[in-house]
Amino acid sequence: MLEARAAVKTLHAYRPPLAGRQGLRLDFNESTIGCSPRVLARLRSLDAETLARYPEREPVEGEVADFLELKAEQVLLTNGVDEAIHLLCSTYLDPGDEAIIVVPTFAMYAIFAQAEGARLVQILSGENFAFPLESLLSRISERTRLIAVANPNNPTGAAVACEILWQVAIAAPQAAVLVDEAYFEFHGETILRQSARPANLFVARTFSKAYGLAGLRIGILAGDAGQMAMVRRVASPYNVNAVALAALPEALRDQKYVEHYVAEVQRSREVLEQELRSLGLHYWPSRANFVLIRVGTAYAEFIQALRARGILVRDRHTDPGCEGCVRLTVGSCEHTRALIEALRDVVEKLALQREVRA
Ligand SMILES: Cc1ncc(COP(=O)(O)O)c(C=O)c1O
Repeated sequence: MLEARAAVKTLHAYRPPLAGRQGLRLDFNESTIGCSPRVLARLRSLDAETLARYPEREPVEGEVADFLELKAEQVLLTNGVDEAIHLLCSTYLDPGDEAIIVVPTFAMYAIFAQAEGARLVQILSGENFAFPLESLLSRISERTRLIAVANPNNPTGAAVACEILWQVAIAAPQAAVLVDEAYFEFHGETILRQSARPANLFVARTFSKAYGLAGLRIGILAGDAGQMAMVRRVASPYNVNAVALAALPEALRDQKYVEHYVAEVQRSREVLEQELRSLGLHYWPSRANFVLIRVGTAYAEFIQALRARGILVRDRHTDPGCEGCVRLTVGSCEHTRALIEALRDVVEKLALQREVRA
């Protein structure tokens, strides 16, 4: 009988709650207003010939490289950051190698690393989800072949200084160190701006969040040209589809649209955090387009009560260190106003403040 590899059979399936997402979707950190109208116009202009041909990634890769002020050899377009993570794991991890992650964090690092048969080393974040530099450094060994850090982190919204990540890369030259900057636009700091980066350092970006293009599945993996040549060997030449490739240059050209949305999210994040303070709900200050809050034992009723008011938020209570926690995506000011209105109502109905303060 055909059997999957042992590493796959023991994997926990990751099933994000995608079904029944009607309402205001504040559960996946997507853009709440969608992509630039210029991108939509470009998509509408596509013809049958474009779709009949196999997609050509390289010209667009060149444009993305120019945008990032990198050389084309340093950039690979991927089917979302998810694929970038997958490719790094395929390129660098052998069975029995170690992959270090700082938890809580984005689920796909663990899945792709374990699927290769690697041993997962999970380092718990410090107090208030501070980056645990010392613990991480102490766990690096010769078997460490991958270290993945989301900056800012998901689901906490916490950011770590680029110098610290640099230190990690220097301390583990035998490991691919991935700095996942999926939420870069909302944070504004990037390790990509620093020159003479260590050759084992990789940076991932996505168009799923600030650009509003999660449905197109497009991301970037950037790194040292020699290392990227290795990663390219395991990538399909057609990993990014023609529709995404057609849209991407237009998305990059309309920076005004992205900047406008990011500024709005940053404003709404402030307003939301202020409201959480006045509601007496514990939250962690965020550098991304979401805020993690602690609701306590009533987290399931809280999520359900918001759903009943047409607002979807994400249950994070099973993440390490996140007991009773829920993650709220921050969108436009209008959407945040709707969230706040519902929050006031739900907090009162469930008498949450008393529990949190108790
Ligand atoms: C830290 C982080 N990295 C990557 C992703 C996935 O990005 P993409 O849609 O480009 O695969 C997410 C999505 O939630 C994320 O939170």
